[in-house]
Amino acid sequence: MKKQTILPAKYLTGAVEPPGDKSISHRYAMLAAMAEGTSELRHFAAAADCHSTLDCMKALGAGVEVDKDNVKVTGRGAEGLKGSWRALDAGNSGTTIRLLTGILAGQAFTSKLTGDASLQKRPMGRVVSPLRQMGADIRAREDNFAPLEIRPAKLRAIHYKMPMPSAQVKSALLLAGLFAEGLTSVIEPARTRDHTELALEEFGIDVQKHGSSIQIRGSGGNGGRLQARSLDVPGDISSAVFFIAAASMFPDSNLLIHNVGLNPTRTAILDVFASMGAAIKVVALRSAHGEVVGDLSVKGTSLKGGIVEKEQIPLVIDELPMLAALGPYTEEGIEIRDAAELRVKESDRIAALAENLRRMGATVDERPDGLRVEGRKAGRLRGAEIDPRGDHRIAMAFAVAGLAAEGTTTIRDADCAGVSYPKFYEDLERVAER
Ligand code: S3P
Repeated sequence: MKKQTILPAKYLTGAVEPPGDKSISHRYAMLAAMAEGTSELRHFAAAADCHSTLDCMKALGAGVEVDKDNVKVTGRGAEGLKGSWRALDAGNSGTTIRLLTGILAGQAFTSKLTGDASLQKRPMGRVVSPLRQMGADIRAREDNFAPLEIRPAKLRAIHYKMPMPSAQVKSALLLAGLFAEGLTSVIEPARTRDHTELALEEFGIDVQKHGSSIQIRGSGGNGGRLQARSLDVPGDISSAVFFIAAASMFPDSNLLIHNVGLNPTRTAILDVFASMGAAIKVVALRSAHGEVVGDLSVKGTSLKGGIVEKEQIPLVIDELPMLAALGPYTEEGIEIRDAAELRVKESDRIAALAENLRRMGATVDERPDGLRVEGRKAGRLRGAEIDPRGDHRIAMAFAVAGLAAEGTTTIRDADCAGVSYPKFYEDLERVAER
């Protein structure tokens, strides 16, 4: 496994463009595979996770042609998926397995779904249980983990009040709702990303929103009619955040980040940065297929730090590793509360952050649902050997932290960044001035 060396930098300069958004790419790939005709998906995520989705859709009978970040997906309608004799492999991707479980629950064939060692440890009960209420026939290891076996079933619509804010659970139910008889509604306890709703509408399916309730009318076994589309995927703000953080750490930075998806359910991280005193400007705002896109200009400043908690958490869930790793470079430190969910991501992110921050000399208080990382007064970080525990966002967060540390940082198993951003280290090196 490749080790990546990170040397201290003076500042960040130039321009970078993050890969296509992971969440949107998964959804476009799945819906295109259930649409009639060929969809063209431009700037499709380079992320290994989204290629796991493409492989699964191909195994389910869709035509998939990949030419760099240009992907063509040919579907034969929502009723056109075919059973795969091989188990479908979601790799490291929670979004792939949870959303596909929703789609497969209403099919007329049996499917097996599995993933890598990390994915097999992540809870699936959160989708299995409401899907069973819809009539799905799903078996899971220990009733909660992959591999999953999904047998044919006739689904009925339910009204489901989600016990936790999760875009993946919401999406699995809306996708199952496509195949159910009646009106499926999902009520969110807090706002989460709405890419499934927007993508369904883009492919021609009516989705209603009333307050915190999202509704879809299925046509009881014929899945609604999805039309093939030609779509541009915006850049991933959750990947851009590593560059926002890195540029913000150095007073002399001046970085342009092109083509960033700015869907309001994803931009809470920009508000968090703004509240800490970051100098981020949105330039050239435009819209693309229901999604908002813009370029970001980031200058270096002195970050204040602060507390991130409550309903902010689901809106910045993927950015929390980077925020925590920035803590030692802020005035007051960073505290994350109400985020126990971080323990069941690609790794136990609270434990991984605490361990690696301490390796670099930070003062950290690890808590069941978050952590407190002391700011600059606790001393400058030193380069160290980082164990990302196979988790892409931990690897990238510490590569950024290493830029402003004293001495060399080494990221073990650095290739795991490819789960969301295969060219991350290359792009970071290009804009880091030494
Ligand atoms: C995602 C939803 C979030 C997020 C994940 C992607 C999605 O997960 O952490 O990286 O694309 O729907 P949860 O729904 O489990 O919060």
